[in-house]
Amino acid sequence: MADKDGLQIAKDYQVDVPFAQQGDFHVKGAKNLDWGMKKHLTNIFNPETGKTVMFAFDHGYFMGSTKGLERLDLSIPPLAPYVDVWMATRGALRTCVPAGLKCGVALRVSSGSSMLNDDLSHEVVAVDIEDAIRMNADCMAVQTFIGGDGQLSSLDNLSKVVNAGFRYSIPTLGVVAVGRDMERTDRFFKLATRILAELGVQIVKTYYCDNFEEVVAACPVPIVVAGGKKLPEEEALTLAYNVIKGGAAGVDMGRNIFQAENPVAMAQSVYKVVHEGMSDKDAFELYKELKSK
Ligand code: R5P
Repeated sequence: MADKDGLQIAKDYQVDVPFAQQGDFHVKGAKNLDWGMKKHLTNIFNPETGKTVMFAFDHGYFMGSTKGLERLDLSIPPLAPYVDVWMATRGALRTCVPAGLKCGVALRVSSGSSMLNDDLSHEVVAVDIEDAIRMNADCMAVQTFIGGDGQLSSLDNLSKVVNAGFRYSIPTLGVVAVGRDMERTDRFFKLATRILAELGVQIVKTYYCDNFEEVVAACPVPIVVAGGKKLPEEEALTLAYNVIKGGAAGVDMGRNIFQAENPVAMAQSVYKVVHEGMSDKDAFELYKELKSK
């Protein structure tokens, strides 16, 4: 075990130097993976842009029915043209999302907490790898609680899923949770994202922060960024713009799409920012135009 006191503060991130092991595959850190893993990652990250718009509507797994997600059967399908990947539970997907819609699947496989608990950091792996295979999941999402009460069990969950994922060539998406009392600093996100990457995940989901470019540079797998609490649409588009500018491989946005005044127009505008490099200002103009139609 390294002596914590002797560790030096990392600072040499060389953010302007591209990832040195990219090879000829469009997903960071994936050049040495098996063909099947690469195929799943290609279902997530567009090979032309290397980016993804992941749409998260898995909130019901601990929040129950949430504003904007009262009727999954009505609100989700119209978003399909502007979404690369559904991030959802198997229950929501099987009951409310037609399999014929052309979106990848980030299957939420950890669960075990609810809004009724003060401490949300204790989860289990709730979905068997066989069911992830049956669902044709392109990745399996596991919540982790670095620095939280449930750190050990969540990293145990994550490692079990990573191991099963390697057996069947399904990538794992490690989700960095931020507890109520946890800091949202680059120091924390550098720690958490790097731990998950070194434990073997192929994708990390985290939050935007100061010095985000350094978080990205230090993480050898692609980072997708959660939207977090609902913001005014203009600010949410600026967030999307900043994370892409900062080197993220996409967004994994939930409330800022499904709680927008017009979710379809919002998804369409976010898509333009992520895949076409549209500026946040232009994307907001587009949003207003689409919303008024
Ligand atoms: C937590 O991991 C949640 O289940 C969501 O997937 C995540 O927070 C992304 O959604 P939002 O953009 O609403 O934060």
